Amino acid sequence: MVLPGDQARLYRPRPELLPAAHVPSLPHYQRLYQRSVEEPHEFWGDIAKEFYWKRQHTGPFLKYNFDVTKGKIFIEWMKGATTNICYNLLDRNVNDKKLGDKVAFYWEGNEPGDYTKITYSELLQKVCQFANVLRSQGVKKGDRVSIYLPMILELVIAMLACARIGALHSVVFAGFSADSLCERILDCGCSLLITADAFYRGDKLVNLKQIADEAIRKCKDKGCSLKKCIVVKHLGREEIAVDGTSSKSPPLKRLCQDVQAPWNPAMDMWWHELMGGASKECEPEWCDAEDELFILYTSGSTGKPKGVLHTVGGYMIFAATSFKYVFDYQPEDVYWCTADIGWITGHSYLTYGPLANGATSVLFEGVPTYPDVGRMWSIIDKYKVTKFYTAPTAIRLLMKYGEEPVKKYSRKSLKVLGTVGEPINPEAWLWYYRVVGEERCPIVDTFWQTETGGHMLTPLPAATPMKPGSATFPFFGVVPAILSESGEELEGEAEGYLVFKQPWPGIMRTLYGKHQQFETVYFKKFPGYYVTGDGCRRDKDGYYWITGRIDDMLNVSGHLLSTAEVESALLEHEAVAEAAVVSHPHPLKGECLYCFVTLREGHEFTKNLTDELKKQVREKIGPIATPDYIQYAPSLPKTRSGKITRRILRKIAKNDQDLGDISTLADPGIIKQLFNSRCDTKQ
Ligand code: WT7
Repeated sequence: MVLPGDQARLYRPRPELLPAAHVPSLPHYQRLYQRSVEEPHEFWGDIAKEFYWKRQHTGPFLKYNFDVTKGKIFIEWMKGATTNICYNLLDRNVNDKKLGDKVAFYWEGNEPGDYTKITYSELLQKVCQFANVLRSQGVKKGDRVSIYLPMILELVIAMLACARIGALHSVVFAGFSADSLCERILDCGCSLLITADAFYRGDKLVNLKQIADEAIRKCKDKGCSLKKCIVVKHLGREEIAVDGTSSKSPPLKRLCQDVQAPWNPAMDMWWHELMGGASKECEPEWCDAEDELFILYTSGSTGKPKGVLHTVGGYMIFAATSFKYVFDYQPEDVYWCTADIGWITGHSYLTYGPLANGATSVLFEGVPTYPDVGRMWSIIDKYKVTKFYTAPTAIRLLMKYGEEPVKKYSRKSLKVLGTVGEPINPEAWLWYYRVVGEERCPIVDTFWQTETGGHMLTPLPAATPMKPGSATFPFFGVVPAILSESGEELEGEAEGYLVFKQPWPGIMRTLYGKHQQFETVYFKKFPGYYVTGDGCRRDKDGYYWITGRIDDMLNVSGHLLSTAEVESALLEHEAVAEAAVVSHPHPLKGECLYCFVTLREGHEFTKNLTDELKKQVREKIGPIATPDYIQYAPSLPKTRSGKITRRILRKIAKNDQDLGDISTLADPGIIKQLFNSRCDTKQ
């Protein structure tokens, strides 16, 4: 329960953290911050020295243009220097830092009892082998490789192998549908796909290879470049001798029988067969700091996913530095980020950031509620996790089951807690703080985006007094501003558009193959600024509070979807004439989808149709996009120029009669009808 004083109160870091902390006080943070924004060359230049560069950079450290009115937008950090990110994550840690025997990942499978681990030197070997496999399949620097895998070690190995040979990985979340995978394969023109036979998420079997095959079929119809598919035998792995990465677990034997992986000999190859013959030595490809590292798709308000592109040098430095400071990383830490690697959080804070620091992490395949709702806390005790990073939606889900499942476990190893993905409501924040962390662990509420590569607004655990629900202050190198509708910078207490005024090393460089769209989406509305698309408030103490998206995007369980994307999935159904989708508050997911549809002549709105439409969206996008509500609309409220007024539909969904100005509507009469036929959203 949130008491009146709770939210106004400042929650200060606990003294135990201070002696070893990288940043032990607020003035210390302020000093470092000042330097990072006033002397970015020196600040990041010093950090860059900790990494290995094949060729040191000469010339300007940072060159950029953030202003569309002055020409093309570009950002270059350390252009001309050469390095390899995989070498920095693995070879440097194994050879120079002597961390070869340190555990890189504890892998915890979906089934309790199914687990393994991998050290830095084992990881390096496997990555080298797989990099050689990729080379032998003809993959070269600059080529794109799609990776469609569950949360298994092969996912990390595949990503780093791509990075080692300078190929771009495009990881597609294994919860996405065949259509979504196909769209992403086509957009980046990739030549090779890596997938797995199947996996379990909780008690649900996902026949991943079948979905991948369907995607490949769809791609072929559209003249795609995909030539090969490498398949990890994951669920069926008990049948094969895998060196070191397989564990014996009785439940698996039972599960494997359910797997059916169709095989296409012209295209499909088993991962373990290719690895068998591959050398464990692999010279990295030396890349320019500004060479492309990876593409990761994120929803765009036009309905088409955007291929966010990150580059080698800046991303490496930013992911590594933010990981170190935001989690106050210490060598003895066991760190656990629950995010899927299919999202940016899993790229920056499960793969690149922790490995760059030589950290030990937990990689978890399963879900928080399987086999029971104590799973997260049991894993924390099992591996003595010290730093734990999860999403508000997971916290809200577990809150529902009360304190008892949490208290069954000790959690005494925990030192720092983190959240990411969406604004955290104070009630969930306080539960996380009091029940999970027993008022001992600071919470880092980290605001950032796929596009930013790493943390933008965040507390530092031993320095920043926290306010529940606020992402507090900017990270090093980040200069936020709040703008009014007319583009004026607002000072002091204010609310408006959140923008950033200068580049930080981890900023995306373009949308893959669509530079003009990149400029339009992020730089056009307010020339001279990077526009986040989020609303934000600054309070009297200078704390930043994210108020949510201000474009046509919605945030379901910490994952962005665009209303347009869901609308176009609905419109593909023959019964649907028009569709409008709005976000609607949801107690667990944060937001959910509330859809309005008008029908074509001759179709009737039935339960059957609603089910079909839900299925359609699930198939086109994936289970996360499944609508919670579909309401029949005889017509939709529109302006006289024909624009659907989603602002009003949002109010109808919420049954909020306070509509404001409706004088611009072409047919105000429809509103009453829509209010009368609302879906019941009381739960
Ligand atoms: C959008 C970015 C960054 C990894 C996960 C999502 C929202 C993210 C917070 C936070 C309030 C947050 C924003 C942002 N968001 N973190 N701590 N507080 N809102 O990455 O899919 O690119 O989504 O997530 O709306 O713009 P993404």
